[in-house]
Amino acid sequence: MQPTANQEELAAVWKGRDFLGLADFTPEEIRYLLDLAVELKRKQKAGELYQPLKGKTLGMIFEKSSTRTRVSFEVGMYQLGGHALFLSRSDIQMGRGETIRDTARTMSRYLDGILIRTFGHRNVVELARAATVPVINGLSDFSHPCQALADYQTILEKKGRLEGLKIAYIGDGNNMCHSLMVGAAKLGLHFVGACPEGYEPDAELTKSAKETASETGGRVDIVRDPKEAVQGADVVYTDVWASMGFEEEQQERERAFRAYQVNEELVRYAKPDYLFMHCLPAHRGEEVTEGVIDGPNSVVFDEAENRLHAQKAIMAAIMA
Ligand code: CP
Ligand code: NVA
Repeated sequence: MQPTANQEELAAVWKGRDFLGLADFTPEEIRYLLDLAVELKRKQKAGELYQPLKGKTLGMIFEKSSTRTRVSFEVGMYQLGGHALFLSRSDIQMGRGETIRDTARTMSRYLDGILIRTFGHRNVVELARAATVPVINGLSDFSHPCQALADYQTILEKKGRLEGLKIAYIGDGNNMCHSLMVGAAKLGLHFVGACPEGYEPDAELTKSAKETASETGGRVDIVRDPKEAVQGADVVYTDVWASMGFEEEQQERERAFRAYQVNEELVRYAKPDYLFMHCLPAHRGEEVTEGVIDGPNSVVFDEAENRLHAQKAIMAAIMA
């Protein structure tokens, strides 16, 4: 595929940038990554080698558990011709109090990119500020942009478009809700979050997502009633009730979210060809029933697979 002049310009714009959140990018820049992800998936399936990151290394700092993020980044880096290092917090000096700033400055002398999965989002920002190589947000308490990018790739592949689709997010106004909401606003979808009182997404982020949506033809609404959110939806998305770091709130959250389970009764309000989505890991019997997540409308493992392709697009765009 020959890149157009516009794609070449966009490719140049991406080089050397951090990937901290979808809010930092224009709709056109995000669309460039989505198209690249689709193309890299095609190449991989066709057995075409594509190795723009030969000789490059990505360091991956994990302060929280991970199956998908760790494996897909490590495999993705290998497929792009590079190498990935898994660095758990307890194995590096950060676990003994070395500052994020010193860690970033040291690692920048060896690495070509740094991924971090952490608690407070300020850790991601601080790392990116001090590092002289691109930094990727592999999940913070505030956002999970790599997952959202893979999810919009999945929706695009399944529905053939993004603009005008309705995505209902049911449950906790957490990191996943934030990244999906911003992505929807940028890409012209109608995002409706249904969250219990006290668990709404960040008010400032919601306000700016609404403003963005008004410029792209999208729309952002936060409501209380899950049925209202799911009514006529093309996509029904949910996530765990207690995210990593909130385990001690499990019981009170089970009470707060009881009416927010995505089950057979709720999805009857969606379009017949709706997609069920979940970033995984899932808790069957809590936020979603087995019948829904293992049913015919569920695309959760396509989303999981697309983590690989979407993140290869991110790494190729910023690190090549
Ligand atoms: N969805 C996701 O990020 O999964 P992991 O926590 O397994 O990386
Ligand atoms: N909201 C979840 C997402 C896991 C991928 C968490 O932060 O634990």
